[in-house]
Amino acid sequence: MKDYAKEISLKIKEKELAVAKRIGDKIPYTAVNGVFDDWTDKNLCWWTNGFWGGMMWQLYGATKEEIYKTRAMELEEKLDGNIMNYNGMDHDSGFKWLTTSHASELLTGSKDSHNRLLLAAANLAGRFNPAGFIRAWNDEKGDNAGWAIIDCLMNLPLLYIATEITGDPRFKKIAMTHADTAIKHFVRDDGSARHIVIFDPETGDFVDEPGGQGYGKGSVWTRGQSWALYGFTMSFLHTGQKRYLETAIRCADFFADNTPESGRIPLDFRQPKEPDYTDSCAASIGASGMLLLAKTLRNEGKDICDGAAVLADKYDKTAERILRYLTDNDSDWNPETDNILRSCTAAYHDKEHEFPIIYGDYYLIEAIFRITGEETYIW
Ligand code: GLY
Repeated sequence: MKDYAKEISLKIKEKELAVAKRIGDKIPYTAVNGVFDDWTDKNLCWWTNGFWGGMMWQLYGATKEEIYKTRAMELEEKLDGNIMNYNGMDHDSGFKWLTTSHASELLTGSKDSHNRLLLAAANLAGRFNPAGFIRAWNDEKGDNAGWAIIDCLMNLPLLYIATEITGDPRFKKIAMTHADTAIKHFVRDDGSARHIVIFDPETGDFVDEPGGQGYGKGSVWTRGQSWALYGFTMSFLHTGQKRYLETAIRCADFFADNTPESGRIPLDFRQPKEPDYTDSCAASIGASGMLLLAKTLRNEGKDICDGAAVLADKYDKTAERILRYLTDNDSDWNPETDNILRSCTAAYHDKEHEFPIIYGDYYLIEAIFRITGEETYIW
């Protein structure tokens, strides 16, 4: 697997150097005909706006090419306009400031980045409802006050890291309370994950599980499943609590057992046969998460989990199958175009399907660098 990943790593570096040199200070979400768009004015607070910066930091960590640092810092500074916009701050602060400010702090020791990281963590902690969960999105009328979503597990490391930095346990306690609620209400008996759960914001009682970005109620949105297996792994890494590792394994088993031999990941594991939609973002996130879980099982998990080595092999093999599918069939390696992955889908019922989305590329690079040992671990 390492030789394969080294070969892809070279292709990534060749392409991204060319892109970083020509792109200017855009904050891309997608690419149209191979040219990145720019969300600086479109929506500075969009949840994906950290990922291009995160790609640049991963590349900087691996190569020390100054252009990557310049691009990443430009983007991080622009996001100050998001931190100063109360309504633009939602639960996705981990996606925005771990990829940017945490990476920057790790690689440069920047005090400004440290400050941004803690501001973002404090805001995320402020979204905690003591009924037991972190509120996902905003809504001026308060109609979303009881909504939580599986993706939030990926933002919890911001809280764990805030406790590790400050020594104040409240951030970690909030994260663990939310993770415990997620075990109880988001993960079904078969290991599949719900996307959205609506709670009564006064009592914390379970009210409903709308279909969210997947096919419908009771279905299994593949990106949500990848957030779940990855997110519970990180909660285990930050807390050492066995229940998070066990839940990560249940979610990863569901993902791996439903991954086709080809490695092509559908948009929803319970979607109808036609149309045969795929989501390369779910694929790259799921692969990266499984690689982390495999490594965790070989290291921290080996004494507390039965069959850790066998499970680790299973997740490594599934991740490799998925990555090979992506890099052989769905990647654009031409340095003259901006995106790598071509077939990502934001939500099943959207009009548009199978187009480039920036976080697909972020997690593809992260997964490959995780195998080659070139990753800057930001979570
Ligand atoms: N975090 C939202 C999504 O995965 O689309």
